[in-house]
Amino acid sequence: MKKVLLLLLAMMFSGQAFADEIFSTLFRFKGVAPMSNDLYNESCGECHYAYQAGLLPKVSWEKLMLVDELEDHFGEVADLDEEDRIELLNLLVDNAADTSFYKRSMKISRSIPDGVTLLRITEVPYIKRKHKPMTDKYVKNNPKVKSLINCNACHRQIDKGIFDDDTILIPNYGYWSELDDD
Ligand code: HEC
Ligand code: HEC
Repeated sequence: MKKVLLLLLAMMFSGQAFADEIFSTLFRFKGVAPMSNDLYNESCGECHYAYQAGLLPKVSWEKLMLVDELEDHFGEVADLDEEDRIELLNLLVDNAADTSFYKRSMKISRSIPDGVTLLRITEVPYIKRKHKPMTDKYVKNNPKVKSLINCNACHRQIDKGIFDDDTILIPNYGYWSELDDD
């Protein structure tokens, strides 16, 4: 009797894993939604990577895109025409992490405590946890990376919204999946 129960349990679990795999392969909902808006890529990709909307929740984008905030955007001026600001604000809010069905977006959104408004992706608990192995040698002291904000230095398929391990190539070190610190 016990054996039958165990077998049933095993089938249920592998069935779930199998269903998850089919789900993510079929729909490619594993990462974050890619963004192909030219205005966004030009305006917000000038000084750093044009981060996908699905990397931060709605409240974060609403705050980041306020006129006053854009005028003092991490010490820089990132001002926009009012028309463009509204268009980009809507684009970001409509595709934010907490409105997305993509797996990484859901993980990002769930990891942020209620009532907290983060302005940095690099301060999202899920993102911080995932990058614990990214010590100074890979980031700060790596002249081709310098800062964790340069996502695309390592995530070579980030434009497609893909973050899988086998797409991470750290400059001067190689594929993350082949490094010993993994
Ligand atoms: C004039 C240059 C400039 C422009 C244009 C600009 N940014 Fe930034 N952005 C910065 C700087 C500088 C930082 C902080 C970098 C650092 O911490 O080293 C930053 C940081 C950020 C961060 C936080 C990154 C992190 O996780 O630490 C987000 C999110 C962001 N910008 C979004 C945007 C969006 C959206 C736009 C378009 C409306 C935009 N930026 C346009 C200069 C710019
Ligand atoms: C120095 C290289 C580097 C930079 C820069 C970097 N990452 Fe990563 N990232 C990694 C590595 C390595 C991992 C995998 C860590 C592990 O779990 O073993 C990772 C994991 C992730 C994951 C989880 C993927 C998964 O399959 O679980 C996400 C999402 C992610 N990074 C997003 C970002 C974003 C967004 C940025 C920019 C704000 C960024 N990363 C910057 C190296 C980097």
